[in-house]
Amino acid sequence: MATGGILITALIWLSITATTSYAQTPAPINITSTLAKYPEYKVFSDLLVSTGVDKEVNTHTSITLLVPSNDALNSFVAATPSADVVKLGDIARFHFLLTYYGLADLQALPTDNYTIVTTLYQTTGKANGNEGSVEIYNTPGKVLVGPVGGGPNASVVESVLEEAYKISIIHIDSVLEPSGFNVGDTNLINVLESFQTFGLFISLLQDTGVDAILAGRQTSGLTVLAPTDSAFATLNGSLATLSPARKKVLAQYHALTSYYALADLQTLVETPVQTLASTVAGGFKLNVTSTATTVTLTTGVNNATLLKPLYDAKPAAMYSVDKVLLPTEYFGTPDELAPAEAPAPATAPPPSSIKSPPPVPQKTAPAAGPVSIISDNPNAANVASISGTLSALLVLVSSTIAFFRSDSGTHSR
Ligand SMILES: *[C@@H]1O[C@H](CO)[C@@H](O)[C@H](O)[C@H]1NC(C)=O
Ligand SMILES: *[C@@H]1O[C@H](CO)[C@@H](O)[C@H](O)[C@H]1NC(C)=O
Ligand SMILES: *[C@@H]1O[C@H](CO)[C@@H](O)[C@H](O)[C@H]1NC(C)=O
Ligand SMILES: *[C@@H]1O[C@H](CO)[C@@H](O)[C@H](O)[C@H]1NC(C)=O
Ligand SMILES: *[C@@H]1O[C@H](CO)[C@@H](O)[C@H](O)[C@H]1NC(C)=O
Ligand SMILES: *[C@@H]1O[C@H](CO)[C@@H](O)[C@H](O)[C@H]1NC(C)=O
Repeated sequence: MATGGILITALIWLSITATTSYAQTPAPINITSTLAKYPEYKVFSDLLVSTGVDKEVNTHTSITLLVPSNDALNSFVAATPSADVVKLGDIARFHFLLTYYGLADLQALPTDNYTIVTTLYQTTGKANGNEGSVEIYNTPGKVLVGPVGGGPNASVVESVLEEAYKISIIHIDSVLEPSGFNVGDTNLINVLESFQTFGLFISLLQDTGVDAILAGRQTSGLTVLAPTDSAFATLNGSLATLSPARKKVLAQYHALTSYYALADLQTLVETPVQTLASTVAGGFKLNVTSTATTVTLTTGVNNATLLKPLYDAKPAAMYSVDKVLLPTEYFGTPDELAPAEAPAPATAPPPSSIKSPPPVPQKTAPAAGPVSIISDNPNAANVASISGTLSALLVLVSSTIAFFRSDSGTHSR
């Protein structure tokens, strides 16, 4: 009797479970047919179709779409000329949360901290770390959303559709972009201007045209070291006497040829690193050393301390530094005057595989002594670069190997 009771109970339980789970098996999501009822989101729906993201969405069984209006998406696309179809597809993916949240669920999130929620973009494997997630801020009277590390960017406006726990569509007031995504679009000069303490560095970049060189490298790897106005002030204006050619090289010396996140700089072992002023022949490099709290950049003439990150959107980063970096190639160092440091004789023949530079008298070797920043003359940069080339040819084999090694090493991450 007891056994029969248990058996019946078990059968009833099984049939309830089976019926329940059968009843709860949701029909597959069809995001475009769902959105078709809301013409105010047609641009987003069209984007899903043109990028093929609709098919990915339809494979999910529980999802939240944070949808921008037609106007918001149109103006975003118009303002982002570099947004090709691949990028736009990733931006579309970034609007799908892989967890169901009705409006009330968002409003019930913790208020003392943001909540990190994974998006469909994370599933592509293209996101850096958890940059494929959004942060949701439940603030009094308002729910805000933004990319991880980017701060709140969009506000929740209203619920559009809720089919618990299958699909929720929530209207947000602007387009969400993963942090570090619009790299090619951000003007580094504007970033510097926003801090109001880099006026002299901005002038140096603009006067020398190096601002355009930096912009051109923003998508291929760059770390800018921006000296503060007070760093320039301690030089008492003496840089004003540098020739235009040297000013340009000095500006380029303030940018590394690879992207370094702060953590990369703190753990960098491959030093010295190349700057945009470095040539294949070497030179114009910086040593980076770190303690637990400080990153120091050593030129051989002076040492600068990294102050704070100003911009970090892989593959471009920018930090403030407390000194103008003075390359030994222009400003010399007492050490280089020591006999042990004397360069190889400039009369040695260059390797035959390389086009010979014009012959240069031996005394123009680069380490001949500090170049006065006061008495700089317009030809000095050329003389220095010719002599630099010549002495570099003498060590060409080793420096070329070193160059390719450090180049490949610093680019990988
Ligand atoms: C979604 O619905 C549309 C019509 O509304 C249809 O053309 C399309 O094939 C459907 N997609 C899927 C994956 O069923
Ligand atoms: C806020 O949440 C983030 C992500 O979950 C966490 O890393 C951080 O420590 C939290 N901050 C505080 C103050 O609790
Ligand atoms: C959010 O992002 C958009 C587009 O990138 C931008 O125009 C807007 O200023 C951002 N809003 C906030 C609050 O940062
Ligand atoms: C700039 O001037 C100050 C005060 O006159 C002086 O202490 C400092 O050494 C000068 N710096 C340079 C690089 O000449
Ligand atoms: C930079 O580092 C290299 C290798 O560690 C070292 O040989 C060189 O002396 C350093 N240069 C300066 C200026 O500190
Ligand atoms: C720069 O730092 C190095 C150690 O990294 C130190 O040997 C050198 O004396 C410092 N130079 C100046 C000018 O402070």
